Amino acid sequence: MMTTLRSHIVGFTLVAALLSVCHIAAAAVSGDQCKAQETQAVAINAYGRRLSIDDESTPFYQPTDSLASPRFSGVRTYARLPHVTSMEGVDVAVFGIPFDTGASFKIGQRYGPESVRSASHLLRPYNPDVNVTVFGALSCVDFGDVSVVPGYIQASYAAMEKDITELAEAGVVTLGFGGDHSVTLGELRALAKVHGPMSLVHFDSHSDVWDSYFGKKYNHGTPFRRAVEEGLLLPSKSIQIGMRGPLYSATDRKDATDLGFNVLTTSDLASLKPLVLGAAVRRIVGASPAFLSFDVDFFDPAYAPGTGTPEVGGPSTQVGLGYLRALRDINWVGGDVVEVLPALDHGQITAHAAAQVGFEFLSLVAARAEALRTVRAECDALRKDKEEL
Ligand SMILES: *[C@@H]1O[C@H](CO)[C@@H](O)[C@H](O)[C@H]1NC(C)=O
Repeated sequence: MMTTLRSHIVGFTLVAALLSVCHIAAAAVSGDQCKAQETQAVAINAYGRRLSIDDESTPFYQPTDSLASPRFSGVRTYARLPHVTSMEGVDVAVFGIPFDTGASFKIGQRYGPESVRSASHLLRPYNPDVNVTVFGALSCVDFGDVSVVPGYIQASYAAMEKDITELAEAGVVTLGFGGDHSVTLGELRALAKVHGPMSLVHFDSHSDVWDSYFGKKYNHGTPFRRAVEEGLLLPSKSIQIGMRGPLYSATDRKDATDLGFNVLTTSDLASLKPLVLGAAVRRIVGASPAFLSFDVDFFDPAYAPGTGTPEVGGPSTQVGLGYLRALRDINWVGGDVVEVLPALDHGQITAHAAAQVGFEFLSLVAARAEALRTVRAECDALRKDKEEL
């Protein structure tokens, strides 16, 4: 598996350079692309729905204008988005998952969503690194927190799954803020009902593929093994990125590759430029519906101290955000940012990092929506030309 992954990476160093050129040069569309786009618009109701209404419209929901009222004012929602629970006119629903009794070490991640919302008021609408006006391209809302039952993981899975299924069925892309990493299983269960098995792109210092912990099958160290067992993921079309730190045994790392996941450790990352990683991930994921799961302990504890199981020797936020921004042209159907533990955070360092990671995810979704819109406009023009002939 590692050999395959290495060949993906070596082979795609050159392709990555070419792809970056493609991003800049606007290529004319072909008939095949137009056909594919029409199929896609039906298949991906996530962006297709609003696009099919009116691609020129400004988003139905937008954040409070921070040039009209200052960012430190107002009720705390993610990025100052309206708090909305009906999914009509919504492209992306952001929500909190305040559950932390799946954590194996320090707890308090139930306060993560509140803390991320507070820090996220600093965000602005335009992402210069991805060149997209996120809240101009997408209609986004803060749904509030999904339901959980403190202390009871099965009941919490059932409760959150119900809420998130409703969002997924409404055709919106979901962005959850944890919560400890056990919550991701609840999100994957809900999304897989609508999208089928998904690719996972997982940033974390831990693989989270234990079989059990203290004999128990459900906690924040096991979600991705359970997800594979339940058929929610396409492991060979998935990648785990950033693993490091001491393990219980030499076989721990093998557990993830035995499940079929592609794995890049923090050491592997040291020699990888973002564009190369981006191309490798695109190659692995292909056209599958994809879920981005980002554990803030991917970052070095210096950049994300407020978390339950920190691992020293990790990437900076600058490096990590660079990798995220390279993950373009992927069919994202959902994502999450987990393990923010505000009681151990200092100066909101981790909360700001998590808010920004969420913003990068929204930027990738927005850039894809814009790209689909451009192709659609070109296809419409192509069709019109043909009709006039
Ligand atoms: C950014 O996107 C706009 C279109 O949305 C385009 O006109 C502009 O050239 C892009 N800028 C860069 C630096 O790619």
